[in-house]
Amino acid sequence: METSPVKPTDAPPSPLTESLRLQSLPPYIFAQLDVLKAAARERGVDVIDLGMGNPDKPTPAPIVEAAVRSVQDPANHRYPTFDGKLALRQTIASWYEKRYGVPLDPEREVLPLIGSKEGLAHLALAYINPGDSSIVPSPSYPVHTRGTIMAGGQIETLPLTADDDYQIDFDAIDPEAARKAKMLFFNYPHNPTAAVAERPLFERAVRFGQETQTLIVHDMAYAELAFDGFKPTSLLEIPGAKDLGLEFHTFSKTFSMAGWRCGFVVGNAQMIAALTKVKSNMDYGLFPAVQDAAIAALNLPEHYVTETIQMYKDRRDVVVDGLNAIGFAVKRPRATMYVWVPIPPGFTSASFASRLIEETGVVVTPGTAFGTFGEGFVRISLIQPPDRLREAITRIGNVTW
Ligand SMILES: Cc1ncc(COP(=O)(O)O)c(C=O)c1O
Repeated sequence: METSPVKPTDAPPSPLTESLRLQSLPPYIFAQLDVLKAAARERGVDVIDLGMGNPDKPTPAPIVEAAVRSVQDPANHRYPTFDGKLALRQTIASWYEKRYGVPLDPEREVLPLIGSKEGLAHLALAYINPGDSSIVPSPSYPVHTRGTIMAGGQIETLPLTADDDYQIDFDAIDPEAARKAKMLFFNYPHNPTAAVAERPLFERAVRFGQETQTLIVHDMAYAELAFDGFKPTSLLEIPGAKDLGLEFHTFSKTFSMAGWRCGFVVGNAQMIAALTKVKSNMDYGLFPAVQDAAIAALNLPEHYVTETIQMYKDRRDVVVDGLNAIGFAVKRPRATMYVWVPIPPGFTSASFASRLIEETGVVVTPGTAFGTFGEGFVRISLIQPPDRLREAITRIGNVTW
């Protein structure tokens, strides 16, 4: 029998070599910033961290109280059902109908998630075969690309630009790429640019999906955080969206519940079933007490959310007015908890963010953390009270850029 020749010099591969799927992920820009942040703290610098979209406001008391009651019930100590409590799915469906006028079947068109990030990542596993592609705007929230990459797929990048107000230009998508793509991910109000989109863009997205047989996935993480009378559109408001689309929502931002890990997805029943199939092989869904907290969140009196919106609006105005007063040219966003800041000439977004930490102790996120088309900008998260935001702006104003 013939054996294949083995070169004696070939070193055996280390079992610790990461999978190709991990190796294919783009570098993690946050890691470098974390090092600089830690070094500044070590030097005794009073760091003002405006890096992550991590709400600083405590979760509203009625939500915490509902969770505490639920934790004490032994029935909630056992494995939950994969697809979540029916009571939660019904509450989501009623909230959604009240909010957007779209009826949903709580048994087939709603699925609670361990945070929307979890669902977005796992969805790619349900649909992407090696070599398949997803269309994803740049810049975008990282999991929109990374789910597909980890599933062995490729990304067709759709540049978003300040000149176009970060609106997707569906007519600019290469027809061959559009024909090949399995999914399109998009997100308005948009992280990181804080851009918003009006209903015609959503209608165009659905038409694009129908014409090219592409699944349309909308991430609506900032559904409620809108200002100055702006009301974000939901994908499912558009006729035909439910035939090929899903929309992801989160409790992290609206209800300041980022640590609870709680979100949901609504839309096409077949896509929800496929995602449930992935999840039932990988997790057991949400801790039942977190599900009861989520029910309490969606039944919260209106003023809790109104106050949160007002809080971010006040912070937005402090940052926008403050930065414009010291020579930056910043637009006033109509939604999200972010301000997207063009950087001075002579810097990359990473070098500007590094210099900012080193000279002022203010931490922001370089635009390139969200893709190459984020270059030229940094993102400020409005996760500190107004006096700390003012202090950050004073420090930035004291540096000659
Ligand atoms: C656009 C977008 N989607 C999803 C998430 C993650 O949400 P969750 O906490 O529900 O995983 C974030 C968090 O910043 C986000 O900005």
